[in-house]
Amino acid sequence: MDIGVCYFPEHWPRERWATDIEQMAAAGITYVRIGEFAWSAIEPEPGTHNFSWIETVLALLDEHGLQAVLCTPTAAPPKWLVDQHPEIHQQASDGTVNGFGSRRHYCYNSPVYREHTQRVVTALADRFSGADPVSGWQIDNEYGCHGTLFCYCSNCAMAFRDWLRDRYETIDRLNTAWGTAFWSQRYRSFDEIDPPRSTPADHHPSHLLDYHRFTNAGVVAYNRLQARILQAANDDWFVTHNFMCSHTELDPFAFRDALDFASWDVYPTGAPQTVPGKQPSREALRIGNADQLGLNHAWYRGVASDRFWVLEQQPGTINWPPYSPTPADGAMAFWAHHAVAHGADVVSYFRWRRCRSGQEQYHAGLRRGDGTPDRGYHDASRVAAELDGLADGEIDASVALVIDPPSLWALSSQPMAPSFDPWEQIKTYYTAIRGRGITVAVVSPTDPLESYPFVVAPSLHLLDAVRAEHLTQYVESGGTLLTTLRTGEKTRTNRLVAGMAPGPLTATVGATVAEHETVPDQFETRVTIDGSTFEYHTWAEALAPTTATCIGTHAAGVHQHRPAITRNDVGDGSCYYVGVWPTPALADKLISRVLSEAGIDQLDDRLPDTVRVASRGQYTWVFNFGTDSVTIAGDVTIGSATLEAYAYAVTTGSIDLLEIH
Ligand code: GAL
Repeated sequence: MDIGVCYFPEHWPRERWATDIEQMAAAGITYVRIGEFAWSAIEPEPGTHNFSWIETVLALLDEHGLQAVLCTPTAAPPKWLVDQHPEIHQQASDGTVNGFGSRRHYCYNSPVYREHTQRVVTALADRFSGADPVSGWQIDNEYGCHGTLFCYCSNCAMAFRDWLRDRYETIDRLNTAWGTAFWSQRYRSFDEIDPPRSTPADHHPSHLLDYHRFTNAGVVAYNRLQARILQAANDDWFVTHNFMCSHTELDPFAFRDALDFASWDVYPTGAPQTVPGKQPSREALRIGNADQLGLNHAWYRGVASDRFWVLEQQPGTINWPPYSPTPADGAMAFWAHHAVAHGADVVSYFRWRRCRSGQEQYHAGLRRGDGTPDRGYHDASRVAAELDGLADGEIDASVALVIDPPSLWALSSQPMAPSFDPWEQIKTYYTAIRGRGITVAVVSPTDPLESYPFVVAPSLHLLDAVRAEHLTQYVESGGTLLTTLRTGEKTRTNRLVAGMAPGPLTATVGATVAEHETVPDQFETRVTIDGSTFEYHTWAEALAPTTATCIGTHAAGVHQHRPAITRNDVGDGSCYYVGVWPTPALADKLISRVLSEAGIDQLDDRLPDTVRVASRGQYTWVFNFGTDSVTIAGDVTIGSATLEAYAYAVTTGSIDLLEIH
């Protein structure tokens, strides 16, 4: 398990590079990422390449025994290129053009941009295919960052029509699949269909969903174009992309065939500030939110090869969230351990030195602008030494959490309540499982499930017969499945199913959804389960069991006395259905009950949300994301048995959490 750093040599005088790299080696850094956003340095004039600066840096890295991760520079097309081909610029749904002067101002579907991408990536791949210290590549940077996933330009319109033609073959099929009789939206030909640009009222949900799928497919194709060039140049190179925190607009599973593993960028004090409608806690502003980070680690680990990298790790204060608090003492080491405990192979800090120009002047580096060490440097060098001693083991998860990004897209287009954030529902269950000390694997709806005794599949909204059968077979052969509200409500083209929800999963659930409503805070929202009463929020269903047993009953409101939660025996397994959005206490009640039924060992008491344990190979980590101290018993190899505020400990063998106060 290694430490890396992101370095932008083009921001610094050439004479300084040797010192910087020598200092990186002294800090215990192994990987140095370079070349990101550097297109105008690589190709200062059209067709004239300048690779000498990269060659010089590679030679210095090699001299110090460091490895390089090269980046393709495509997140920042140079001025000469967009001036030559203004159609490269992305267009917003109201026609506004994303201009030059920042980054991510390109359209993924622009044929001319793809051509130039191919050109620059091929030149880089050819030039560096034999270069020694290059171990792999990061493609582009954070697809969709700054809200740039969707483009509505005329290139996209044409590509969208082709995509629809491929999918539906005839316009009649599309009209039927979408249901375009509604509000006179019938199309006579594919050529009449535009991207879902600005409209007075809501857009047609099937149109929106297909545009989202088309957009995702465009990014996947754009990524694959680059990956194939790099993989063909040197098959020892790894190829990855740095995804973003909780970025559900993209479907990372769709990148599987082109990436050796996924990476993501970890900014723990910024991310909690971006959750809509939620105020971050004081602790989260210093150290981050344990389960927001853990869920993303698990998600990106689930993309490919059961491993991931953190390609950008927050190094100190950052420039982009509303507030820029100083991370807690030791936080930059804490986050690296947290990532490694969840399966990261490498944690690479962003950036080596604080920048003295450009948009990110108020972003720390491991070292200050004058080159002297900042707090992140001390943490990073400490953690490099600590991680060096830890062998990298496997993650053994007993619970699988199924995430289906297209279902999230469809739900988000018709949320029915301001608080209906489907990712937050997923996180509710993740938190409940992690609160009992259990390791979670995130899987796609088509991944094998047999190795997990318990599968949680929240709101698989767009469930077709094949996916429903996959889940049913899992249950029949002895698995325990927990599904939740709005599952199987829609067809794959975002129309309500012909019968009742949960559509193709009805027999497995053993109940239908008789009624549903969204619930404002003013309503009483309670269910009774095993004689105790719990609150829920946001969404409520009244269920009509056929073969299922009611295990949770509405205890208030219009649905009082009606079933809210059911359990059905199917073959050798069982299927739970939860028709309400649980509060943390209700989620814990449900999860601990099902964990026991599935025979999975769990902690007797639910952990506070600020305390988490994570196991990898022979090691178990304890993380204190809070200010109350935590005392453990066990064989502590790093840290101490009493974890004060924001501390971590690494142990071997089993541990007991003794006291939290
Ligand atoms: C990331 C991005 C980096 C840098 C960083 C600042 O989202 O990938 O290039 O902008 O944020 O925190």
